[in-house]
Amino acid sequence: MSSSVSAFRPITSQAITMALCTKILGRSLHMLEDTPSTNSTAMPLAQAGAPDGTVVVADAQTSGRGRLGRHWYSPPGKNLYCSIILRRAMPPDQVSRWLSWVPLLSAVAVSRAIQVISGLRPSLKWPNDILIEQRKVGGLLCESSGMGTATGFVIVGIGLNVNMWRDAFPTDLHDLATSLAAEAGRPFDRAVLLATLLSELELRYETFVSGAMDIKHEYELRCATIGQRVRVEMANGECGDCIEGQAVSIGDDGSLQVMVDNPQDPLTPRQPVAIRAGDVVHLRREGN
Ligand code: BTN
Repeated sequence: MSSSVSAFRPITSQAITMALCTKILGRSLHMLEDTPSTNSTAMPLAQAGAPDGTVVVADAQTSGRGRLGRHWYSPPGKNLYCSIILRRAMPPDQVSRWLSWVPLLSAVAVSRAIQVISGLRPSLKWPNDILIEQRKVGGLLCESSGMGTATGFVIVGIGLNVNMWRDAFPTDLHDLATSLAAEAGRPFDRAVLLATLLSELELRYETFVSGAMDIKHEYELRCATIGQRVRVEMANGECGDCIEGQAVSIGDDGSLQVMVDNPQDPLTPRQPVAIRAGDVVHLRREGN
């Protein structure tokens, strides 16, 4: 079924399974009408031993959670809310590689799936906001437990605004958020979108696990933050609470490298600061 013909059908496990082309991701599937948060639902499933690639999807969330303790707007019948459990065996020296790169490779997979489905080309705001024309179309919340032990896992929670028209967003999101339908001018089938997303994620996950992938390069190509003047509000009080400067690159550990302004001493050569957690605001480029 083409994605436009079926765009308004409900998201069901049957529709997802019919569209699925993956080997692992989504082969164990929990489809819920509503839940407080798919990430919160996935956590006890993972703790009870749910297999690698288990996916929890809900048509609505009553307490959808965003990064940094924010709320994620999650009305029924319109958007995609899902959480994917990733739990391949990994040596302890791979833990920080996983924690750094799984969120970033997942964001690349989401943006690639959007491109495949819609022809739109989203960009990424570090670390994993999905943007179209400076507005947020989706975001990721990754949570982990027991990393470095045999039962450790990462939960990749993905929220995508799919069939919301702009005026349906709450007023505080009007200027900040958008949806695939608002940008493309047509609705999309959420089951086909999810199946595409899982294929794109599986491809990158398998290559990442094999150790072969240059995710950094693919991430940098999609990352709109590099080259921008930015303000960073630190999540953990690194370097004071807030810095401004020029985002220059992505570090080998997935950090954002920022040349911090130093108005007191403009002649001293600057060193990039590595930002590992925080909230980035893209400031207007000078001259704009
Ligand atoms: C963000 O950009 O702040 C992250 C948003 C993540 C939202 C998704 S929706 C599915 C999953 N369940 C949640 O409660 N949150 C994530």
